[in-house]
Amino acid sequence: MRTLLTLLVLISVTATTAQELPPLPSDYCHWKADHLAIDEALCGLKGNPARGRALAIDPHGGNCIACHHLPVPEESFHGTIGPPLDKVASRYTEGQLRLRVVDEQQVNPFTIMPGFYRDPRLANRVADAYWGKTFLTAQQVEDIVAWLVTLK
Ligand code: HEC
Repeated sequence: MRTLLTLLVLISVTATTAQELPPLPSDYCHWKADHLAIDEALCGLKGNPARGRALAIDPHGGNCIACHHLPVPEESFHGTIGPPLDKVASRYTEGQLRLRVVDEQQVNPFTIMPGFYRDPRLANRVADAYWGKTFLTAQQVEDIVAWLVTLK
């Protein structure tokens, strides 16, 4: 009887949580990581490295510079929480870079780096404006990746 009761409680808790999940955005590009890399561009989009560079330093874009040193000499503040990205493309392939921008938690579950294109339904403790949304669009992720691959 007690087991049955526990089971019923568990089922109702799970059902409630499932109900509260917002739907995925209709334009969400599904991706699959393989060997810690996402080799296919999100939705097959082509990135623009100049836009990616701008997004990386934009506080309302990727804001990568808040945590990483970047090869952007005109910016005076560069964060040191994450590793410098100056030569990051000599350490990682394009697919490995894409996964790190999309969902660094797949590499390190305890990372403080935001998953910029993580399934938004997996998020918790996000600001209301981001609830049910990705931090960057698929095109913005591809722009940033297109810039990162040039950093050799
Ligand atoms: C809140 C801080 C933070 C922000 C913002 C952030 N990162 Fe990170 N990033 C980290 C940390 C910390 C690591 C180290 C690895 C880990 O924690 O998993 C990391 C790791 C990485 C790595 C792997 C580097 C290596 O040498 O292993 C890449 C690539 C990367 N970040 C790219 C980006 C890009 C591109 C952006 C912006 C779109 C960004 N990060 C924004 C904190 C951040």
